[in-house]
Order: sequence, then structure tokens, then C-alpha cells
Amino acid sequence: MSNVSDSAQLFTPATQAIFWNNHQTAIQRMLDYDTLVARETPSVAAIVSPTSGSRFGKFFFGTSEILIPIYRSTLEAAQAHPHADVLLNFASFRRAHRVTSEALEISQIRCIMVTAEGIPERHARELKLQAEALNKLIIGPATVGAIVPGAFKIANIGGTIENIISSKLHRPGACGLVTRSGGLFNELANIIALNADGIAEGIAIGGDRFAASNFIEHMLRMEHNPQVRYLLMLGEVGGREEYRVIDAVRDGRIKKPVIGWCVGTIAEHFSSGVQFGHAGASANTELETAAHKNQAMREAGIRVPKSFNDLPEIISGVYRELHAEGVIGTFKEPDIKPMPEDCQSAMRAGRVRKGTHFICTISDDRGDEATYAGKPISTVATPDTGYGIADVITLLWFKRRYPQWASDFIETVIKTVADHGPAVSGAHNARVTARAGKDLISALVSGLLTIGPRFGGAIDGAAKYFKLGFDQTMAPEEFVNYMAEQRMVIPGIGHRIKSIRNPDRRVESLKDFARQQFPATPLLDFALAVEQQTTKKKDNLILNVDGTIGVLMVDMWRSLDYSDTEIDQFIDSGTLNAFFVLGRSIGFIGHILDEKRLGMPMYRHPFDDILYDISDTEKE
Ligand code: ACO
Ligand code: LMR
Repeated sequence: MSNVSDSAQLFTPATQAIFWNNHQTAIQRMLDYDTLVARETPSVAAIVSPTSGSRFGKFFFGTSEILIPIYRSTLEAAQAHPHADVLLNFASFRRAHRVTSEALEISQIRCIMVTAEGIPERHARELKLQAEALNKLIIGPATVGAIVPGAFKIANIGGTIENIISSKLHRPGACGLVTRSGGLFNELANIIALNADGIAEGIAIGGDRFAASNFIEHMLRMEHNPQVRYLLMLGEVGGREEYRVIDAVRDGRIKKPVIGWCVGTIAEHFSSGVQFGHAGASANTELETAAHKNQAMREAGIRVPKSFNDLPEIISGVYRELHAEGVIGTFKEPDIKPMPEDCQSAMRAGRVRKGTHFICTISDDRGDEATYAGKPISTVATPDTGYGIADVITLLWFKRRYPQWASDFIETVIKTVADHGPAVSGAHNARVTARAGKDLISALVSGLLTIGPRFGGAIDGAAKYFKLGFDQTMAPEEFVNYMAEQRMVIPGIGHRIKSIRNPDRRVESLKDFARQQFPATPLLDFALAVEQQTTKKKDNLILNVDGTIGVLMVDMWRSLDYSDTEIDQFIDSGTLNAFFVLGRSIGFIGHILDEKRLGMPMYRHPFDDILYDISDTEKE
């Protein structure tokens, strides 16, 4: 791995960075630049995010999606990506010093860019010393970074893709540009594009009072970089760094033509101590004024315009001179392939359309507040809205609010089926699962999976077959025979412990409710007539709770003017069993919490409760 002093070329088309902080927009901008300049590999090899729960970030590289691995530390990232020799430190100013210092100690990292503003000057000085001792380069702090057009661009420098193309930052030019500020960097890149042929390398050294690398380090490197044919330094009022460049020009360490300008000449027209934007932009002595620096540059042979407005003319002049001398050749502009556009932005602009994979007709989470069937949650959630849980159910299940008698019925059903003790199939399974050490959701699901045609899940079947018998005007006995011919038990008839002699009070209550509140109950009446037949055979073949709910739901929907097709669709899609699932979840959760509270050991069924009837296959 080459280090800073050996290499005049700051970045190449193969340079890869580790990006500290998962700044998705900035990373995507780098990858978009890669696409623009047709890089073969993404310029970001890895992301460091100590708190991220994800192991990869998903980004576009051209038209393809790629995964960039996320690591907890720079060291881990560096070990996994030994060729990544640049760290882009986007940590906050509180962490930036530590992150930079640690990265300097990682041998493969040769260049670190630090974006945070406001790092204490003492820390920035420490970092500079550490970097110098290790022969490494720090760009920043408080910088947008650097660019080698056509090879590698740090995060946001140069701005949008459109700006990059118009400033000719997508292909190499001849100028080596060093500024303090990122904003003026972009301005200058544009001026150079308009008046010359673009830049070969550009650095914004950062606006803090103390930059860990300064004009001189970068300009000396550019002096040795054959791609750079002339240099442009945009200094500022404040500090004395520009004098180090003046010295290098005077003593011949910099031989290439240099254009220079210090902004802030206006400062002299104010009383002392005026601060210009950056922390470093304030003159403490005469030497630090922009006018003094501009004059000193002029005297050293640096080409200095009379004002910033004259800078384009100077640039154009130097370019034309070098071109005439053959130092700068004629550049053939590369073809620019159109950049892939994000689907979302193209859609917003009406340029593309896209089919959807899902349709949702019940709720919408796209606005400020999610809605249930068009009603914001806050308008149905609290008691003062007048909406109860049954209203929320009908909004989300049937996309309308039912009249009071119907929503009262639904709420009664939910409360009625909420639990029936620990011995019923589903509650027993939920308890056994909880005692096997499973979590609440697993135990709940184990209970729910028990709901089926014999236990709690006979409601749809009851609705279906009683409706069929009634609609085909079968006599109750005829219906019983019809079901027998189908070799089916009648869903909704029969109970293990409830009977004529031991009636199910839940069923009695539901019947009472319906008789008082429903406009009509023809299907219930038919089912009760069927019950008269079945209980003749056995007194536990009563209309059970599933059956009662099933027929009453159909009576309810018919009173609410649903069509037969709609009701059949409810039945076929399992809507009626859903009421048992919903209500009984309350009870299952209660049983599971009870088990967790009691801390009972794992359940094992006793041997004496199992009839073992095993034949010895050897003897047969
Ligand atoms: N329709 C017609 N005949 C029936 C029905 C029925 N729904 N249920 C039982 N029988 C008959 C059986 O065919 C059997 O007849 P047989 O003696 O001539 O062989 C006799 O009654 C006894 O049957 P079992 O299955 O032993 O009855 P058990 O009392 O054990 O079953 C059960 C109760 C499982 C609920 C049963 O009646 C049944 O499957 N019903 C239909 C499903 C149903 O509605 N389940 C919901 C119950 S309520 C709830 O879980 C919340
Ligand atoms: C229930 O609601 O779970 C009961 O009707 C079932 C049972 O077996 O008692």
C-alpha cells in the first residue's frame, strides 16, 4: 500500500473508502458518481456504524442494487476490506477525534477525511501530529472533502450530478484546485469549467481555524502529480498558511503556474475583528488580511486578479497559454451516459408508471395519521369518539360502521367466546406450550392452531349449512338426513358437556339478545327447529355456541342488506371463525400469563391416562 508521500495521485479509479456513519444519501451520491464515471468497483467498500442493527446497507450501483456491509468498528471494516485505504469520517464532532485517531493507527488507512465542524483546535493539532508521524494525510476537519474527477469523489463535494456535469467534474482536467470552503470550491470548479478544461484534483481543506492539512501539503503533492498542469489556491482572510505557498513558489518547490486569490478583502472596510463565515476567517494582524496576502502572492509571481470578478479571465489566460505551449492537450469530452433515475422521482415527475403488487382497501398509513376505512385513528380510538371495539372491527373487516344493535351483537360475541376455562382444547394446548418454556406468541399460536371444525372453528360451517338448508326450504328433519347423507356432522350442533339438561348459558344469552335486538332471526329459528330433531337422538346434540353465532351472523347480515353473494364470500373466507379467533385470543393470553405467573414446570401427561396398545411386530 503506498503512503501519502510516495503517491502524488490522491485517489485513483480503484480507490475504495470505508464510510464512518451510515449516511445513506451521501453514500448513494458517491455511488452515483461512480456510475457517472463508469467505475468498475463501488467507491465505498464498507460502512462503520457501531449502533446499527443491520449488517448491510442496500444501495444502487448503476441500475443494480448492491449490499455494502456494515461493521461495528473501523478495524473490523478494514480487516474485511484490506484494499480500502481511505476513511471518510462522518462522525459527529464529539466522536470524530477518537474515530480519526484510531483509524490512523490502522496500517492500511493512508488518508482520512473528517467532516465534523467544531472539533477543538487542540484535538485537530494532535491529529495532525499523529498523521505526520505516521506519514498519513488528514483532510479536514469541517470539510466537504476532495475529488479526483473521473476517479473518486468524496460524498457531497461538487453537489448534484447535474452540477458535477456542468462543472466538468466527471472527467479529468488540468487544474489543481485548493480552497477552504466547499461552497466556494463548487463555485470555482464551475468557473474553471467555463474558462478552462476542468480540474485534475480538487481539495476543500475545511473552514475550521486549524486544518489538519493545509494549502502547502496539497499544492506540493499536486506539483508532483503529472495530471495537474497549473494550480489554483483560493485563500481567505485570517491565518498565514498562504505564505507557506508563497515561500514554496519563491524557493522553487512549486514550479507550475499558480493562480491565487484570498477572499475577504472587504474585511478591511469594517472595524477590526470581523468574522467571515468560517471559524478561521478572521484577521488578527495586518499579515492575515486578504489584501496583504494578495499583494504578497503577486510579488512572488503568483497570478492574482484585481478582484474576484477578474478571476475567470486569469484562469482563461493561463489555460490558453498552457494550451498554446502544448502543456495542456485538447480534451475529447467523454460521452455521458444518462444516469439511471430513481423510480420514485420519475414517478413523481410523471415520467414512468408502475403496476402495484398489493391492493389495500381498508386502511392507509401514508398521511399524517393512519386511517381505518378513511377515519383517522384518533377519531375512533378514545371513548369520547363514541366508537367502541366492535366499530373498529367492522371498519377494518367490513369497511363500514354497523348500527348500534349489530355492533352490540359483535361485542357480545367477542366477550362471550373470550374464554371457557383451562380444560378446552385450545386453552389446554396454550398452557402446555407455555409450560414447555415457549414465549407468549408461540403459546398463543399453539392455542389458535387448535381452533378447527370441532373446536371453535365450526362457525363458518354452521352458517354455510344452516343457510343452505334454510334457503333450499328443507324441513328440519330433511336437513338432518341431508347432512347424514353427506356423511357430515352438522357444524354448530353438539357439545361435550352441555346438553338439554345442562344448557349452555352463553347460547341462551345470545338467543335472548337476538330476539330483543335483531329485526328478524329466521336462520336462528330454523337452527332451533333442527336442534329439536338432533336432541331427540342425544340430548347433547344442542345448537352450540359456534352454531348460534354462525346463524345469527347470517341473520344480522341479511338485516343489514348484504347480498347472498357477499354473505357467501364472508363464509368462504373464514370471517365468522375470525370472531372466535379474536375473542378466544383474549382467553388464551390470560391462560399463558397465568402459567408464566405460576411458573409451573413442564407438563408431561401421566402414563396411567394413556391406553398403551402396542403390538409386537416380531411376534406377528
Ligand atoms: N351432527 C350430527 N350428529 C352428531 C353431531 C353433529 N354435529 N355431533 C355428534 N353427533 C353424533 C355422532 O355422529 C355420534 O353418533 P353415533 O353415536 O351414532 O355414532 C354421536 O353424536 C356422538 O358423537 P361424538 O363425536 O362422540 O360426540 P361428542 O359429544 O364427543 O362431540 C362435538 C362433541 C365434537 C362438539 C361434536 O358434537 C361435533 O363434532 N360437533 C360439530 C362441530 C361443532 O359444532 N363444534 C363446536 C363445538 S362448540 C365449541 O367448540 C366452542
Ligand atoms: C368452548 O367455548 O371452548 C367450549 O364450548 C368448548 C368446550 O369443549 O367446552
